[in-house]
Amino acid sequence: MGMFLHTGRPADVEEVGSERSFVFLFFNPLIWLSLNVLLFGKTFLQYHEGPEHHYIYQMLGLGLCLSRASASVLNLNCSLILLPVCRTLLAFLRGSQKVPSRRTRRLLDKSRTFHIACGVTICVLSGVHVAAHLVNTLNFSVNYNEDFVELNAARYRGEDPRKFLFTTVPGLTGVCMVLVLFLMVTASTYAIRVSNYDIFWYTHNLFFVFYMLLMFHVSGGLLKYQTNLDTHPPGCINLNKTRHQNITSPAYFSEEFHQLLPGESSRSDDLTKNTLVKICAEEPKFQASFPQTWLWISGPLCLYCAERLYRCIRSNKPVTIISVISHPSDVVEIRMIKDNFKARPGQYIILHCPSVSALENHPFTLTMCPTETKATFGVHLKIVGDWTERFRDLLLPPSGQESEILPFIQSRNYPKLYIDGPFGSPFEESLNYEVSLCVAGGIGVTPFASILNTLLDGWEAFKLRRLYFIWVCRDMQSFRWFADLLCVVHNKFWQENRPDFVNIQLYLSQTDGIQKIIGEKYQALNSRLFIGRPRWKALFDEIAKYNRGKTVGVFCCGPSSISKTLHRLSNQHNSYGTRFEYNKESFS
Ligand SMILES: Cc1cc2nc3c(=O)[nH]c(=O)nc-3n(C[C@H](O)[C@H](O)[C@H](O)COP(=O)(O)OP(=O)(O)OC[C@H]3O[C@@H](n4cnc5c(N)ncnc54)[C@H](O)[C@@H]3O)c2cc1C
Ligand SMILES: NC(=O)c1ccc[n+]([C@@H]2O[C@H](COP(=O)([O-])OP(=O)(O)OC[C@H]3O[C@@H](n4cnc5c(N)ncnc54)[C@H](OP(=O)(O)O)[C@@H]3O)[C@@H](O)[C@H]2O)c1
Repeated sequence: MGMFLHTGRPADVEEVGSERSFVFLFFNPLIWLSLNVLLFGKTFLQYHEGPEHHYIYQMLGLGLCLSRASASVLNLNCSLILLPVCRTLLAFLRGSQKVPSRRTRRLLDKSRTFHIACGVTICVLSGVHVAAHLVNTLNFSVNYNEDFVELNAARYRGEDPRKFLFTTVPGLTGVCMVLVLFLMVTASTYAIRVSNYDIFWYTHNLFFVFYMLLMFHVSGGLLKYQTNLDTHPPGCINLNKTRHQNITSPAYFSEEFHQLLPGESSRSDDLTKNTLVKICAEEPKFQASFPQTWLWISGPLCLYCAERLYRCIRSNKPVTIISVISHPSDVVEIRMIKDNFKARPGQYIILHCPSVSALENHPFTLTMCPTETKATFGVHLKIVGDWTERFRDLLLPPSGQESEILPFIQSRNYPKLYIDGPFGSPFEESLNYEVSLCVAGGIGVTPFASILNTLLDGWEAFKLRRLYFIWVCRDMQSFRWFADLLCVVHNKFWQENRPDFVNIQLYLSQTDGIQKIIGEKYQALNSRLFIGRPRWKALFDEIAKYNRGKTVGVFCCGPSSISKTLHRLSNQHNSYGTRFEYNKESFS
């Protein structure tokens, strides 16, 4: 491998772009964390210190502050959690012109992590909220206020607190929301997602029920604040009682009042009377707080619904399947066309085939994108489970014929296939580095196939000037999925006298059946074939050495163990001043 003279754009000019974007504000973990803490603290203090909450605080104590503070953080997170699942919006933002800085664009890769962080916060704060409200229901019953009856949620002192849970709107909706949340959370665990994705998917769609319940939950109006602070400073009604029954009045009021009443003089009764008239002109009036949840949720919820509607309209016309190719090792390639379908390399689409399943949708990365001159695009599917198996059976004739490429006119009667997308992925970014390291494990090769296909059509428009492509497979036959493409790419850059542009390394991790070497047709690949798993550390050292002082974009699609290893190595220091920037895959 020789050194390459770089002719590309000056490195990282785009880094200078504006960071103050929507993406930066919402997906930045520090900003999000600070917002949560600030909101919790501010609301807690507001209910702890605020004169308008004096009477209700006296009745409910810290339970009031904790329930309101947790509710405000829940509002924030229930609205933010919807943003990372607006896939079309994220794909739109990923387009390099919309978010000029790569650093900001890379935050989009964390959209799934951000969604999970909001989800976990919702669970934890829901726990706090529920616990605080359980204490509140008890206090509503025990501290029934005979002076201000309208402040009470209980109908009489000592009313069974369980009644609030099952007879009031906030109580009943709260119980239902806890149940829905429990279902959603338990079905979101890694074990369920891997073993039965459908359970995860269907229960996750209960989010809509959750939001509906939330809207009713907040309209209950059980917690009331005082509206007439001018004519009734909080606590003034207790003045006489304070002196006789030792009831505490609030600090701000006591201070003011004791200035008017210095000591217990004989004139104090007159003074008290006069001052009470002046300070406490009328009975306190209470009003239910305005349900702020509407303000928080309605924007993101409308955005999400609008996006779903748009996706629904966009995907309601079926694609035309041009050809179906059966590849070795249980992989099927589908080539299709659709009017006005545009996509960038690295993006994925969601397939929906009603003949296979009326409800299921499955994501697949585009291996070939439509271009200005060619409308065809394609995906490679590995048969791994029931949906892919049934889909394959509908696409391919039962004869077990190895390969089928039929001309358009003679095409078989394929089942109706709808596609949704395209949606963005971190792999799109691989063309925006001067040097990229793309590592694929097995069928994880698909996003890189579309990158290579795009380079075939022309590389000059991109920043990329050197691509290390590493592909690890278990059996030799798997390399055939893209052996033709790899050969054509290799030949193109040799013919253009740029042999260093693409560095291909194929690794065969299992040695069984090694005698079936790739074949004469793919001679160029034979010399790039290694046996066993790659030695990652040595590979990183080699790349660092040949790309001194540069920033190398690292991309991985495949088993998570490879991903973890690459992430760790990318964060390690090297003596050549080369920086490895790991781009996290995020399949939301
Ligand atoms: C963004 C993305 C791109 C993908 N690209 C490709 C590709 O190019 N080629 C390819 O062969 N595979 C790809 N996959 C994986 C593919 O979606 C699953 O293999 C397929 O959905 C399996 O469905 P099944 O019912 O046959 O198998 P199952 O036995 O139901 O599932 C097998 C595995 O796939 C996962 N899975 C199942 N359904 C879904 C779903 N609706 N969404 C996400 N994951 C699911 C499960 O967690 C499970 O671990 C991609 C997945 C994602 C998330
Ligand atoms: N295509 C996509 O866009 C896409 C999207 C999402 C997810 N995926 C994921 O991609 C993965 C690929 O599936 P697959 O069944 O084709 O893969 P696979 O056959 O299980 O593994 C592919 C290769 O990776 C090797 N490997 C595993 N861990 C390694 C490590 N730490 N270091 C080096 N090599 C390692 C394996 O080697 P050994 O034989 O030694 O184990 C094997 O040769 C799946 O996990 C799938 O979920 C793909």
